[in-house]
Amino acid sequence: MKFFKVTNVVCGLSVCFFLNFACTDKQKEEKEKFIAENIDFAVRQTKLMLEEVGEPNGKNYPRTMSNDGKLRVTNMYDWTPGFFPGSLWYLYELTGDTLWKNNAEKWTHSLEPLQTFTGHHDLGFMMYCSYGNALKLEPRPEYKDIIIKSAESLSTRYDDRVKSIKSWNYRKNWNDTTEWFYPVIVDNMMNLEMLFAASKLSGDKKFYDIAVIHANSTLKNHIRDDYSSYHVVDYDTITGAVKDQATCQGYSDNSTWSRGQAWLIYGYTMMYRETKDQQYLETAVKLAEYYLANLPEDMIPLWDFNVGQEGYEAVGKSYAVEFPGKDLKDVSAAAITCSAFFELGQYAKDKGYIEKAVQILYTLASPEYRAQLGTNADFILMHSVGSIPHRSEIDKPLVYADYYFLEALTRYKNMNIK
Ligand code: GLY
Repeated sequence: MKFFKVTNVVCGLSVCFFLNFACTDKQKEEKEKFIAENIDFAVRQTKLMLEEVGEPNGKNYPRTMSNDGKLRVTNMYDWTPGFFPGSLWYLYELTGDTLWKNNAEKWTHSLEPLQTFTGHHDLGFMMYCSYGNALKLEPRPEYKDIIIKSAESLSTRYDDRVKSIKSWNYRKNWNDTTEWFYPVIVDNMMNLEMLFAASKLSGDKKFYDIAVIHANSTLKNHIRDDYSSYHVVDYDTITGAVKDQATCQGYSDNSTWSRGQAWLIYGYTMMYRETKDQQYLETAVKLAEYYLANLPEDMIPLWDFNVGQEGYEAVGKSYAVEFPGKDLKDVSAAAITCSAFFELGQYAKDKGYIEKAVQILYTLASPEYRAQLGTNADFILMHSVGSIPHRSEIDKPLVYADYYFLEALTRYKNMNIK
């Protein structure tokens, strides 16, 4: 019942946007009320988070909640430290309150040492969600150099024989037999936005070229004919040939991990924005159609689209018998896709993606998925999944779910419904 109520409100709002009809005053009022209420909640919840976490010290970047309900943090070398500063920047953009700017700057500046980090591929998440938003909202001359330096560091992981940026260093697959020497994961598409920015800031086309070549390899080797996707592709380091197509965080090597699909939708939408190459738009649309065709009624995906299905064998510690994840959803995948759909809908105008984005946003903001004040270790959204095969962060809040929720809210607010 709750869902249908939400959907009705949303249909009225988004259809008037989608068809470019004039919204009634009531519809505008409804949108403004929704946005104001969500900003108010995010502000109050994040103030509690700031109190809890204290000053940035290189080791206290909010990530998730422990089983006993406490905030869990990481050090800056994990893949997620950029999201908390990024969320603070979105709160500044949403409110204009300098409290958020001051905190966003403080948390962003704490990441400066990462500009020379080359230990894994996540520099885009780390440095562009933080410094990229800083550059957009409150530019300082040094931000430009830091982004260029970070792009240099990321580019050290690119090899022209493989035509991809290496995501992780050597490791083994779940079977403990297959060795991965050059593993690339779909998530890597999200690091490319920083390369485009660095290319513009430096005038060096090298970064642009690496982004395009990497995206083309991902399109060829990670995306199946039906536009579902492999999480991991491992390459031969000498010939560049594909050696393995598998998963690390999904249900099965041949399944589709929903957050991976979300990273791809977002990534190819961004690729189209930056290059205007039609094949990227077509790819984003086909990935999105696969995603939408595999959603439950409330539009929040299961953590993997093939979980428990015949023909898919569970990897890692996610064995089917006492498997905890059959019905678990991943709110982070929904938040990423929601934000991506606000952008994709502007390029693929006849597909209804903005209408879908609004529906997802309202669902995420409903009591089903949005926490109560002071609960959920002060994160905004509940019910995400980090990695079921690792038995890690299962049905928990995740800092990146909140980041993309706030980005989606900002995109919705900035979108002129008329
Ligand atoms: N990029 C890691 C993840 O999505 O879990």
